Amino acid sequence: MNEQLLENIRKLKQERRAVILAHNYQPGEIQDLADFTGDSLGLSIKAAEADTDVIVFCGVRFMAETAAILSPEKTVLLPDKSAGCPLADTITAEQLRRLKHKHPDALVVCYVNSTAEVKAESDYCCTSANAVEVVNSLPEDKPIIFVPDRHLGHFVSEKTGRMIRANSSSDFTLWPGYCHVHVAITEDDIKNKKAKYPDAIVMAHPECPEPVKELSDQILSTSQMLKFANNGKAKQFIVATEVGIIHALKKQNPDAEFIAASDRAVCPNMKKISVDKLIGSLEDMKYEVTVPQEIAEKAKKALDRMVEILPR
Ligand code: 13P
Ligand code: SF4
Repeated sequence: MNEQLLENIRKLKQERRAVILAHNYQPGEIQDLADFTGDSLGLSIKAAEADTDVIVFCGVRFMAETAAILSPEKTVLLPDKSAGCPLADTITAEQLRRLKHKHPDALVVCYVNSTAEVKAESDYCCTSANAVEVVNSLPEDKPIIFVPDRHLGHFVSEKTGRMIRANSSSDFTLWPGYCHVHVAITEDDIKNKKAKYPDAIVMAHPECPEPVKELSDQILSTSQMLKFANNGKAKQFIVATEVGIIHALKKQNPDAEFIAASDRAVCPNMKKISVDKLIGSLEDMKYEVTVPQEIAEKAKKALDRMVEILPR
């Protein structure tokens, strides 16, 4: 990247006492100039710990909201105010309240890909990296409502032995939300790539549909994929998640080969952040993401539990 541009960003960061956090799905140039990159869990922990006045969150709105809730004394900026997550918007707080009314004894676990209002209605929050551990930490006799991603929920149900039943006494009730980016990866995509690269290890994100996960060797969050590729001896991987992660995988493992399971797996919201918008964000302190205090206080309880329960 242009040295002048980098110098400009360094100066602005110093002036603002800012840290730049970028999700693993961000465009490569944004990942390269961030202070920290990571998955939703890793970035939430960084946001909570950051010793700065400003956090520029290169990601989507629910991530910036999470940072604002975990670090209420900091100013959190999202460089493009329209960068949202359609999965998070599949359930409203009112819909969750109605579900809770139907299952009054249940504990609510919400995936971090949810709005602050939904988190405020939840008992526990989790990410794809620690969803199994969060559910395993709950009393066995307590029914659970899991929102909003049904594919992550299905994976958690399998790993924890929690049974999904479609009735009011269900042990594990799922909301039918899904991520349009991950469901675009199909069983045929994996079969075709496996036929072409028979020795490759298939890594899939738990948001993928069940037939894709069944054909995969490892089901991992984005940072777990990086850890697995860094530690393993394998040299060829088929990657079933948003394609942005391939930038980080290649950078950290220049000798290995990473093949996208599907080139269609591009999250348009993650790609809304650009270098120009990042500079504009630092220059004009835009777009500030705030959460009303009453919602933030309730949501923080669920989020604190999320950052305390670490994956194994
Ligand atoms: P992780 O980074 O936690 O694996 O999440 C993936 C995702 O879809 C975030 O939007
Ligand atoms: Fe949301 Fe899916 Fe994009 Fe992640 S990849 S931000 S879950 S739409």
